[in-house]
Amino acid sequence: MRYIDRLDEVTVAAVRDVTPQIREITLETPWAAPHTPGAHIDVELIVAGRVETRSYSLVGDADGGTRKVAVRLDPASRGGSKAMHALKPGARLKATPPSNSFELALDAPAYLLIAGGVGVTPILHMASTLAKRGAKVSMLYAGRSRSDMAYLEELQTLLGDRLQVWADAEQSGPPDLAGAFSRLPAGGQVYICGPIPMLEAAKRVWAAAGRPLPDLRFETFGSSGAYANAPFTVHLPDLGFSVDVPADRSMLEVLEEAGVEVMNECRRGECGLCVMNVISAEGEIDHRDVFLSEPQRAAGCKLCACVSRVAGGSVTLESGWRTDDTPAFSKVFAAA
Ligand code: FES
Repeated sequence: MRYIDRLDEVTVAAVRDVTPQIREITLETPWAAPHTPGAHIDVELIVAGRVETRSYSLVGDADGGTRKVAVRLDPASRGGSKAMHALKPGARLKATPPSNSFELALDAPAYLLIAGGVGVTPILHMASTLAKRGAKVSMLYAGRSRSDMAYLEELQTLLGDRLQVWADAEQSGPPDLAGAFSRLPAGGQVYICGPIPMLEAAKRVWAAAGRPLPDLRFETFGSSGAYANAPFTVHLPDLGFSVDVPADRSMLEVLEEAGVEVMNECRRGECGLCVMNVISAEGEIDHRDVFLSEPQRAAGCKLCACVSRVAGGSVTLESGWRTDDTPAFSKVFAAA
């Protein structure tokens, strides 16, 4: 069960490759109202003959009804990126109107924006909004190489020397998050979008610096885990059956198909509505959410069914509704 207000028909107006792996898709939509920085849409796609939903951040401002998304072709993905890359101008899709679970507060004394790879998509609009307002903003943009980093020229034009580029091909280690955080004055806010390991590192360093947790705001694309996608089995002893989760499908999708009701909303590891209680696990639970805290993960008692997986084994879950004692770390969640 999922809470989507409505689905509208949108049309692909144009496609262009902004890097060898990232394709920008321009959509003509019926949405007249502008969207806020950090907004996203949910798109219905046909993946392996099934209707599935994927969330994409909107790139930049609206231009009337025109909106843009940018999608990285991920060979290890469950098929959504391949379906998006196959779209041609004139294709029709269904999508939810923009909503925002990664809202930019406009009253902070300073901002640090951090993007990892295609996580730049929501950050670009934040950078342009803050730069136009004359806000004190800097940005750290990490990627494999400059040629793999979408919208790099636009960001250089917007931010000049306030943009720090961290290309793996030019560096010998990860970005210096502690140094970047130390240059942010008290009350300054960080907005970060990137793969799960980057977010986890940022949360650790931010907490170690004693900074207020609500001032670190993050979003992920929910597909990056510590292990490659592999099949696994979910046992549901209170329902008396088990289901197999193939490598190219999520646990939530398979449970829904089996008739197991799992409350959910964002389907990308942010809201926590799909948290289920773990009875036991054989193999490692690959947590791919940004909702559970590190102590909760270490305890191994809960997982987010929409994105998390099990590497090399099985997991035994309670099928009932989640308990209400699961606090968020710092995610600021509105209506996704
Ligand atoms: S549906 Fe939001 S975390 Fe799973």
